[in-house]
Amino acid sequence: MTDFDVVVVGAGVTGLTVANRLHAAGRSVLVLEARDRVGGRLLTEDVEGVRLEVGGQWVSPDQTALLALIDELGLEMYPRYRAGDSVYIGRDGVRRTFEGEKFPVSETTAAEVDRLVEELDRLAAQMDPLSPWEHPDAEVLDRISFAAWLAGQTDDPEARDNVALYVGPAMLTKPAHSFSALSAVLMAASAGGFSHLVDADFILDRRVVGGLQRVPLALASRLPAGTVHLDEAVTKIEWADEGATVFTGRGSYHGRNVVLAVPPTLVSRVQYIPALPPVQAQMRQHISFGLVIKLHITYETPFWRDLGLSGTAFSPYSLVHEAYDNTNEDVEGETRGTLVGFVSDVKADSLLALTPEERRSRVLEALAAYYGEQALTPVHYYESPWMADEWTVGAFGTSFDIGSLTRYGRHLRADVGPLAFASSDIAGLGFQHVDGAIRMGEAVAARILA
Ligand code: FDA
Repeated sequence: MTDFDVVVVGAGVTGLTVANRLHAAGRSVLVLEARDRVGGRLLTEDVEGVRLEVGGQWVSPDQTALLALIDELGLEMYPRYRAGDSVYIGRDGVRRTFEGEKFPVSETTAAEVDRLVEELDRLAAQMDPLSPWEHPDAEVLDRISFAAWLAGQTDDPEARDNVALYVGPAMLTKPAHSFSALSAVLMAASAGGFSHLVDADFILDRRVVGGLQRVPLALASRLPAGTVHLDEAVTKIEWADEGATVFTGRGSYHGRNVVLAVPPTLVSRVQYIPALPPVQAQMRQHISFGLVIKLHITYETPFWRDLGLSGTAFSPYSLVHEAYDNTNEDVEGETRGTLVGFVSDVKADSLLALTPEERRSRVLEALAAYYGEQALTPVHYYESPWMADEWTVGAFGTSFDIGSLTRYGRHLRADVGPLAFASSDIAGLGFQHVDGAIRMGEAVAARILA
């Protein structure tokens, strides 16, 4: 059969949510996926005997759409390991341990961080994350970079560096001078407030037993056999008001509706006949992926636990700006310990310019500064390769450049004839997270059914 009610492009969580909801409502659905697997930015893989969450992995309490789906699919979760002290390396280069979510900085810096967090919470509370351009200060906040906004708020460089860390390297994975203060407020509003971004125990709360890719795998298994075509990249779409024909290297398929469940940057990789309205093409030239290298370093034992450390470590001044204990508590008989760390934006640029051996040494030196000399001798080292993957080309997600959220944001979720667009990157709540992928998938399915 080549005629369907709906053709979905992309078998990430967004596309599979759309397909599941439409199939349950009795619609005929086809899902076309470019890769040889489902899950998109979720990938749980065995790499040389170590099971790794190569892409997304954590679930937080505000992600109610994801929590409901995990429940619906009958999956189980377990908490991230967090017993013991965390480590912080400050602007003075001194390593300090601490408890709770507040970094051990001077009293004046701590007071400045609190004041900034309070102000960002206030701004986020005024925002509907589905329409950030309607924020009372939208125009002003969208014209200024987050770095410049922070500089206007405080003279304390360590307070600025810490607050920038939560949104820049840790979330949008772009330097704080390259996105607007409005985008920073959106990131906060989409997670239920800036205070949540500051609290690693909240944001990185739990993991799914067997890995988060089990969510898209379970969604795909609920569809009738043959619904998901792997290795079938969509290259061209011919559309008119009454429907569209989707072309791949293997054939063509017709749908009354077509859902592009791909990141906004990849929407433009497809050829459209006729071309999409100019604003659509213009808009997507102002959206880009951030860059972060997710590192997985496995040791014979989780040695940091014996030192009284939780494995949680932060420093805006380290190559690895954040790291956590990522040991697979759900794998029976696992005695090894795994740390996960992140190298983001311009630090990732400089790391990627090095040879693999140099990269590994630099990363291990950064970890040794957090956890001591034992961090220099892992049994396994792995860098997630999303930036080199043509079906993502970056990580974690995409965001607008300065001034573009107010200029184009309202077109992000607009349908074009029979074409609908959905992805975690255009979500309100759950923006750039699996929760947002589910919300966007459900919203598009509901719109088509209506
Ligand atoms: P996604 O990109 O997953 O899916 C799109 C699909 O479309 C892909 O499978 C792609 O191959 C396919 N495609 C693209 N173009 C195509 C074409 N022309 N034809 C056919 N198919 C095409 N989130 C979270 O909640 N907790 C976390 O801890 C993390 N951590 C994290 C770490 C890392 C390293 C990454 C990369 C990402 C995260 N995330 C995360 C983000 C989370 O993974 C992400 O938001 C969602 O998985 C995105 O789901 P989508 O379905 O929207 O896009």
